[in-house]
Amino acid sequence: QNARIKIDVDRIVGEVDSLIYGNFLEHLGRAVYSGAYDPDSPLADEDGFRKDVIQAAKDLNVTQLRYPGGNFVSNYHWQDGVGSDRVPRMELAWGRLESNEFGTNEFMQFTNKIGAKPYFAVNMGTGTMTEAQRWVEYTNVEEGPYYAELRKKHGYEEPWNIKYWSLGNEMDGFWQIGHLNAEDYAKKARETAKVMQLTDPAISLIAAGASNFRPDANPMHWNRVVLEELKNVVDYLALHIYVGNPDNNYYNFLSTPLVLEERTELVEGLIREIMSRADRGDRPSIKIAWDEWNVWYRARAGESMSGERALEERYNLEDALVVAGFLNAFVRNADIVKMANMAQLVNVIAPMYTNENDMFKQTIYYPLQLFSEHTYGTALDVYVDSETYDTERFFVGLGESQTQQSDVPYLDVSASYKDNGEVIINVVNRHKDKAITTDIISQKGKFTGGFKVYEVNGPDVKAQNNFEETNVETEEKSSIQADGSKVTYSFPAHSYTLIK
Ligand code: AHR
Repeated sequence: QNARIKIDVDRIVGEVDSLIYGNFLEHLGRAVYSGAYDPDSPLADEDGFRKDVIQAAKDLNVTQLRYPGGNFVSNYHWQDGVGSDRVPRMELAWGRLESNEFGTNEFMQFTNKIGAKPYFAVNMGTGTMTEAQRWVEYTNVEEGPYYAELRKKHGYEEPWNIKYWSLGNEMDGFWQIGHLNAEDYAKKARETAKVMQLTDPAISLIAAGASNFRPDANPMHWNRVVLEELKNVVDYLALHIYVGNPDNNYYNFLSTPLVLEERTELVEGLIREIMSRADRGDRPSIKIAWDEWNVWYRARAGESMSGERALEERYNLEDALVVAGFLNAFVRNADIVKMANMAQLVNVIAPMYTNENDMFKQTIYYPLQLFSEHTYGTALDVYVDSETYDTERFFVGLGESQTQQSDVPYLDVSASYKDNGEVIINVVNRHKDKAITTDIISQKGKFTGGFKVYEVNGPDVKAQNNFEETNVETEEKSSIQADGSKVTYSFPAHSYTLIK
């Protein structure tokens, strides 16, 4: 019997927010210097930014870019990176010398060039609330007070009007500079939020939710305390996830997006419960921002964790399938996941990889690009009937608690529907060896016209790209002509397919 995917345009989950196609640029390894900004490269534009990186970021439809960290931000003092006297500092999170040549205004130039919205994180480690307030004043206040005038003196007449600000990064992690317990973080965040919002009431705030899923951590306690204290203050709760395949078990690894989905559902329940006691006036309820997510496990120990070439993860096809799985999970939970940022943009656990004269797109670039180009509109609650498998017990991310997943469907699916009648269906076939013949059934109305079909696949699940060869990329397949309530399609082994 064929597998079945049922599409019913009346079964609505919520609007797909374009901010789920965000990304992240941290002062880390070769992300900023030699990645986004490389004045010595023959590929630099007149302002020192890499033209090839800008073009690839535009083609990736990056909607929002988070900056400047990450762990970096917890010891970052933004005033070191503006004006003519840049202050070199020891960078303690990732072990580099930070020249501060690239700072707030350079980031804003870069983010404008790629056409993304900026998303800033303030320093809640060694930073103060005064420092956070002054940053908002510098970037968002038109004229008058000292820091607004300082921006003008630095040559930027108009305010940057940065809307999205997060109150620190991973403050629940023992690795974070200035790490706090939940109660202390929540109080510090509440008061920092107050001065930031008094400076610019139009900003939107993101609280640092749980990122520590090690066996001795209690992530839901952290989330509860933070949400309770900030229930009337913030607009999003930030969550982070990194997964890997250190045991080389393909099927365990391919099921990791289900863990993201479980965590999403748990936090959604918590938000609902706390929102029932909130007093937010006209403001909508708090949403989830998965503002760091990716595959990251190879460049995650010893020398690969610090210095000039830190976190230079090289991706393969199975990683690209997991990335498609994460994106499917965001779309399936479009009512609550309203922001997501792949970590990161270039060189550091990233879809783009540069050397001085060249750049190549890693495997994970392609699924993200297909989603961000096509998957918009109303997310649908899709019925899927395919064979399933059970995983062994395994570690989700390095050092994290173990999990086990039962009844993982070989077909991982999301779909959305646009006002113009267009349906977009994203399908990962997790099966390593078998194509899966599938009936795609419309529960309401008929499919008509030509279906465009795009596929990300490669010779085997370990296939990678490099400067010389592209083994994994998007291929446009022959379109399908449809007229009726059923279309049958065979999804190849270890592939991601977008049908539109
Ligand atoms: O993205 C790399 C690092 O992962 C970030 O700096 C930190 O927030 C997370 O632990």
